[in-house]
Amino acid sequence: MSSILVLPGDGIGPEIVDEALRVLKAAEKRFDLNIQLDHALVGGAAYDAEGDPLPESTLAKARAADAILFGSIGGPKWDNIERDKRPERGLLRLRSSLGLFANLRPAILFPQLAEASSLKPEVVSGLDILIVRELTGGIYFGQPRGIKEENGERVGFNTYVYSESEMKRIARVAFDLAMQRGKRVCSVDKANVLEVTELWKEVVTEEAKAYPEIELSHMYVDNAAMQLVRAPKQFDVIVTGNLFGDILSDEAAMLTGSIGMLPSASLDENRKGLYEPCHGSAPDIAGQGIANPLATIMSLAMLMRYSLQRDDVADAIEAAVEKVLDQGLRTGDIYTEGTRKVSTGEMGSAVAEALAGV
Ligand code: IPM
Ligand code: MG
Repeated sequence: MSSILVLPGDGIGPEIVDEALRVLKAAEKRFDLNIQLDHALVGGAAYDAEGDPLPESTLAKARAADAILFGSIGGPKWDNIERDKRPERGLLRLRSSLGLFANLRPAILFPQLAEASSLKPEVVSGLDILIVRELTGGIYFGQPRGIKEENGERVGFNTYVYSESEMKRIARVAFDLAMQRGKRVCSVDKANVLEVTELWKEVVTEEAKAYPEIELSHMYVDNAAMQLVRAPKQFDVIVTGNLFGDILSDEAAMLTGSIGMLPSASLDENRKGLYEPCHGSAPDIAGQGIANPLATIMSLAMLMRYSLQRDDVADAIEAAVEKVLDQGLRTGDIYTEGTRKVSTGEMGSAVAEALAGV
């Protein structure tokens, strides 16, 4: 039996997670799966209920589960509370407490959505990039950090730090994954300015020696941001630090038509993982039933593939998503003329039905 902890979170989180659970139910019916589900609060919802965006009880359940399905967190309601209690800090603490250092963000363009991309169809057709983002270090976690008074004014500061071992392990994840696909890795840094990424480049180059088949290249982050919109198909696997990965993955998401299409897996050394869409909680559209649940549904597929080792189920979920796109169903974010605009619930039901083979 496998246990999955469900953390819907805030904003559109609960709506999109519900649809992923509908798909999970259909998967359980079709495949022989034995899954025990548990739920807990995280983010603003947990802060409202217990005064903490990551209550001890949620963390304990997360530690015990084989995998975590996560919605999204945050919203203007919690923007002005004490910094340590903000919803985002709950997610960061969860990633760090569970050692989820490897964040995989596949940006794949479904041919059906070529028209929805902000780039010309010929620039993005066939796009298949995997961004491997380091998730538990770098400037997100470096100490010291804060806002202080100095010489009569306020000064804000953060620390960008990576140890050699942190760089090595994320490089290996990227190389191992690249070996299963195009065997090309582009390491993104700012080695012309930042010492920490100068070392990053050196360490990644050193690690690559154990992977003679991998073609390794290096790119400065400003250039990478430009190349992603100029000629995105030049990339196979991109490996980078926490902050650059955060930014580049949102950019890559738009190439695929909508940030509502990008799933993610955050894995520890043993492939235990947290699975979440790359997008945020979209408070402006929460509760309206118009959010795109596909990134969360495809995060469930990644959960099946990486944490439960069920490639068959993952493939079937992804095929069901394709089938529904073939049928012309679109949520508002990926809608183009000639397709049918559907709600969050209709999209989830259609994928569940396609999966059940009805
Ligand atoms: C992401 C998000 C998070 C991050 C926020 C919500 C803390 O933007 O997963 O990309 O910055 O990592
Ligand atoms: Mg982000």
